[in-house]
Amino acid sequence: MIETHLQSRVYLDNSASTKIAPEVLEVMLPYFTEQFGNASSIHSFGQQAKGAVDEARRQVASLIGADFNEIIFLSGGTEADNLAIRGIAESYRSKGNHIITSEFEHPAVRNTCLAFEKQGFRVTYLPIYENGLVRIEDIKSVITNDTILISIMHANNEVGTIQPIEEIGALVKEIRLERKNLFFHTDAVQSVGKIPIDVKSLGVDLLSLSSHKIHGPKGIGALYLRKGIRITSQLTGGRHERERRAGTENVPAIVGLGQSAELAKENLEKFQEIKSLRDYFEAGVAKLIPEIKFNGDKEHRLANISNISFSYIEGEALLIALDLKGIAVSTGSACSSGSTQPSPVLVAMGLSKEMVRGSIRFSFSRYTTKQEIDYVLSVLPEVVARLRNVSPLYKQAMAKEK
Ligand SMILES: Cc1ncc(COP(=O)(O)O)c(C=O)c1O
Repeated sequence: MIETHLQSRVYLDNSASTKIAPEVLEVMLPYFTEQFGNASSIHSFGQQAKGAVDEARRQVASLIGADFNEIIFLSGGTEADNLAIRGIAESYRSKGNHIITSEFEHPAVRNTCLAFEKQGFRVTYLPIYENGLVRIEDIKSVITNDTILISIMHANNEVGTIQPIEEIGALVKEIRLERKNLFFHTDAVQSVGKIPIDVKSLGVDLLSLSSHKIHGPKGIGALYLRKGIRITSQLTGGRHERERRAGTENVPAIVGLGQSAELAKENLEKFQEIKSLRDYFEAGVAKLIPEIKFNGDKEHRLANISNISFSYIEGEALLIALDLKGIAVSTGSACSSGSTQPSPVLVAMGLSKEMVRGSIRFSFSRYTTKQEIDYVLSVLPEVVARLRNVSPLYKQAMAKEK
């Protein structure tokens, strides 16, 4: 029984984390064993480690069109978001105290902005409309001479919508012709390696990325910081990472991030093939299950995310029922699991409480196969029907129809 269950395990939670690519693990291993030097040491062990860190920095820079020295390694997306927002806010506090962000950022951005409100900053949270996108006119209408930072995520982690970053970047550049101290950060943790990114043409000054979303190890990420921008380091310690992030470099993880960035670059075109698999999945769900809603803009959306609200049922119950069938999915983001609050992202998009509660995120990777999707499509309708049959909401709705 357990064996059958395990044989059909399907992982559709790749926005939470991805499996490490075998090529990534392979290049990391020697840095745990023979090549264990400290990248700051002068001897050959140290220089070997430093060479590996430099190579990874080149690989990450190349994935996003940055220069070598514009990449800061740190512990992941959360730290990158924190360093970006705190680093700019603290450095440029004397130039203004207004931050613009959106209503549906990842907690790493949202909670950091909330913390700055307590320190006397004014934060504007831009609305997200039903399609899950911010509007450039809204940004124009709230920018003031006090605005020092705009932080808008590139692709959303729950619905996958891709924001008009290039347009916002162009607006920021235009404003900067008259007023120097305005900076633009984007949390690109979900989009890096999934769509082509060039920091220069996007017009961003800071960009966060994380390795475990692109088949690299956990606990490592990077912040792109455009040359010439000063940020306050958040850790006191040694002079690592050009004095912007103290602490001995995690060489094996950095090597893994570099390799995962290189593989993501090679696979960028192939990644778009996931879209046809996702569309096949969505067409199947739409055909087999009534009373559902696909969330997020159809066009401006990552190829690998499908967020669906199933009327009359609790997402958590569906998640557990699917898990028993060997299918891993999620309700909202992994970072808010355990919270009883409804997803702020879907609430910001104007979904009813009931539809928010019945939503599930299916997220694919370059390793997802059509067989796996077919398996999910063979299981999902029956599981949904079973949960609806025991749902008081469903019974009420059916009684009303009669
Ligand atoms: C959009 C976004 N930002 C930031 C993070 C945090 O990244 P990390 O898990 O590397 O701290 C995540 C992870 O779920 C994310 O999806």
